[in-house]
Amino acid sequence: MSKFARIIGTGSYLPPTVVTNDDLSKTIDTSDEWITTRTGIKERRRVTDESTCDLAEIAANNALEMAGIDASELDLIILATTTPDKIFPATATMLQTAIGASCPAFDLQSVCAGFIFALTTAEQYIKTGAANKVLVVGSETLSRIVDWNDRSTAILFGDGAGAVVLSGSEETGILHSKLYSDGKYLSSLQVSNNYINETGFIEMAGNEVFKIAVNRLSSLAEETLKECNMSSDELDWMVPHQANLRIISAVAKRIKTPMDKVVVTLDKQGNTSAASIPLALDEAVRDGRIQKGQTLLFEGIGGGFSWGSVLVKF
Ligand SMILES: CC(C)(COP(=O)(O)OP(=O)(O)OC[C@H]1O[C@@H](n2cnc3c(N)ncnc32)[C@H](O)[C@@H]1OP(=O)(O)O)[C@@H](O)C(=O)NCCC(=O)NCCS
Repeated sequence: MSKFARIIGTGSYLPPTVVTNDDLSKTIDTSDEWITTRTGIKERRRVTDESTCDLAEIAANNALEMAGIDASELDLIILATTTPDKIFPATATMLQTAIGASCPAFDLQSVCAGFIFALTTAEQYIKTGAANKVLVVGSETLSRIVDWNDRSTAILFGDGAGAVVLSGSEETGILHSKLYSDGKYLSSLQVSNNYINETGFIEMAGNEVFKIAVNRLSSLAEETLKECNMSSDELDWMVPHQANLRIISAVAKRIKTPMDKVVVTLDKQGNTSAASIPLALDEAVRDGRIQKGQTLLFEGIGGGFSWGSVLVKF
């Protein structure tokens, strides 16, 4: 049994097609100014013919390469996604074959909190000794469930994938995690189709989601620091779910963390749901902002609602 689950590799992938705010304003009644002011988003990526598994495969291989391990050494794969390629089998099993692994693999659905839930699940496998090397991926092709004629949602979402490889460690790793769910808010944010013979799109009460997100994530960030006996000064980086810059800033302000200690990628990626935290993490690791030994706070909220945080010594 290992004392900690440590992140030993990160990876990500964005499909090449860029959709700018100006592109959207040609087909729906919106503007770059409105979208930038209300959300901080300038552009997002969109798949053409790539699947959720295709994006996950590239992100996973990048993370394995950084970790310096072969896919055959993995003990478990957890893929967080809201946009699986099929009703079944799990997209994680397709990913397992695509990267040449042979371990158990399953999908986890917790919408925009999916990466936090998957990371916490992986940590439990490692700490109980049931697994030593675990691949956790967040991958989304949300453009498939966005109504491109609905200006209240079409501006927000993007496609992409991010991944981490976790390993058992005696030194350091995930220090704390906390998960919450409250299913009362089903109608605030959902795809309401019955999955059998209807194609559904994201439906959202934006204003309500905004307020609840700020509220729940701020309280959670405070609670996490308190339970870890830490002050926000001891945090090196916040790596939040990338939904809206105003949500991120409000949470950072509540825990007195300056924005230069927050990794922000939504301007170029929009909200990529379960992929957004590992995408942001990988960018900041690869450009040298995040260094080994630093303390990172991940936090995010998604439909349900489900929300959670993970505090990591990287
Ligand atoms: C969606 C969101 C950006 C809308 O911003 P808002 O400030 O709450 O705006 P409102 O919904 O109150 O709409 C204000 C006005 O802008 C209009 N509007 C909505 N979308 C618009 C767009 N893309 N372009 C221009 N105008 C728009 C509305 O119709 C409304 O007009 P009205 O006052 O004439 O009725 C914001 O609520 C948000 O980000 N919520 C959180 C969503 C989220 O993060 N979801 C995922 C969680 S994981």
